[in-house]
Amino acid sequence: MAKSPEEEHPQKVFGWAARDSSGVLSPFHFSRRQVLFLPSELYHDRENGDDDVTVKVQYCGVCHSDLHTVKNDWGFTRYPVVPGHEIVGVVTKTGKNVNKFKVGDRVGIGVLVGSCKTCESCQQDLENYCPRMIFTYNARYHDGTRTYGGYSDMMIVEERYVLRFPDKLPSDAGAPLLCAGITIYSPMKYYGMTEPGKHLGVSGLGGLGHVAVKFGKAFGLKVTVISTSPRKEEEAIDKLGADSFLVSSDPAKMKAAMGTMDYIIDTVSAVHPLAPLLGLLKLNGKLIMLGLPEKPLELPIFPLVFGRKLVGGSDVGGMKETQEMLDFCAEHGITADIELIRMEEINTAMERLAKSDVRYRFVIDMANSVSQ
Ligand SMILES: NC(=O)c1ccc[n+]([C@@H]2O[C@H](COP(=O)([O-])OP(=O)(O)OC[C@H]3O[C@@H](n4cnc5c(N)ncnc54)[C@H](OP(=O)(O)O)[C@@H]3O)[C@@H](O)[C@H]2O)c1
Ligand SMILES: [Zn+2]
Ligand SMILES: [Zn+2]
Repeated sequence: MAKSPEEEHPQKVFGWAARDSSGVLSPFHFSRRQVLFLPSELYHDRENGDDDVTVKVQYCGVCHSDLHTVKNDWGFTRYPVVPGHEIVGVVTKTGKNVNKFKVGDRVGIGVLVGSCKTCESCQQDLENYCPRMIFTYNARYHDGTRTYGGYSDMMIVEERYVLRFPDKLPSDAGAPLLCAGITIYSPMKYYGMTEPGKHLGVSGLGGLGHVAVKFGKAFGLKVTVISTSPRKEEEAIDKLGADSFLVSSDPAKMKAAMGTMDYIIDTVSAVHPLAPLLGLLKLNGKLIMLGLPEKPLELPIFPLVFGRKLVGGSDVGGMKETQEMLDFCAEHGITADIELIRMEEINTAMERLAKSDVRYRFVIDMANSVSQ
């Protein structure tokens, strides 16, 4: 008979898991990299393999993808699931082939922990588009074991998928860069959205959106936030540095802004109309979709055809570009605005995240959370 995840493992990891689509998280004991067909005395050697780094987790950001996953919004959650893919921690063990990191180094782990390394995408440093890419949680590792994320006290990850965390970046406010940061930086580079003086619209002012405002300003763009939350206006301008703020439910202001934007980054997590956003774009404007609503959106074709507009998408970034992004953030002083919580507060945080009530990313302080 198959053993439960709690029974399988010689070495315990402690984390918080959701067990069903209520999404409620609770304490969960498990291990990583258990190889079921090996005798138990060999487990230890296989946990931190020759190319692996073991990391004591210090901070983990709470991405809306974590919420989609615990609620099974996308229909492919396998429970129990331990979310978390914005992880900062300290190296506690290295395999014998590891040369990028040593014990005591501060490192980051993001959305992926594996890929095939041989396909065209992997060879172009685009592991994030590898058909065999392995997500940090809710996936299967090469050896068939489940991956569990950073709402836990320990990670084991192959060196290639671990990032050097720049000295200048704080661990707590820097953690969200590992998903939110690279998710914004990569498409801005790829779609050529970095030309100083151009006008960027940021749709949805949450974890991704507020970081998009900061990158936009760092690249010298004019930035307008397009939001459903009028209460976020003052902060968006005074604190985050946006140039202007549009409430999407205000028809007069939306109309006045028609045809003024060169690019829009859409980070909205729920189903929403695209016609107003396409209307805001100039001729040749680009609308880049990053949010992952649970149902397909309707795409009006007339504004695309008659304005030669483009709609694209993008999924996080490869390891090389993620390192480049972290170094860019260290140089330009870009971090997330965070609300630090303890693990025990995660269910309340998730409820608030569902209501777009976070300024602007929850980050879990693992070291100061109850450990059992
Ligand atoms: N492409 C990728 O690689 C990638 C990576 C990470 C996350 N994601 C996805 O990106 C989305 C955003 O993630 P996040 O962590 O930034 O989430 P978040 O912090 O919850 O921000 C999403 C924002 O969308 C707006 N919004 C929410 N519901 C809305 C609705 N019904 N209509 C209009 N606007 C609404 C809200 O902004 P306002 O209050 O300003 O309206 C909210 O703050 C999620 O779907 C997530 O899964 C994608
Ligand atoms: Zn994420
Ligand atoms: Zn590959």
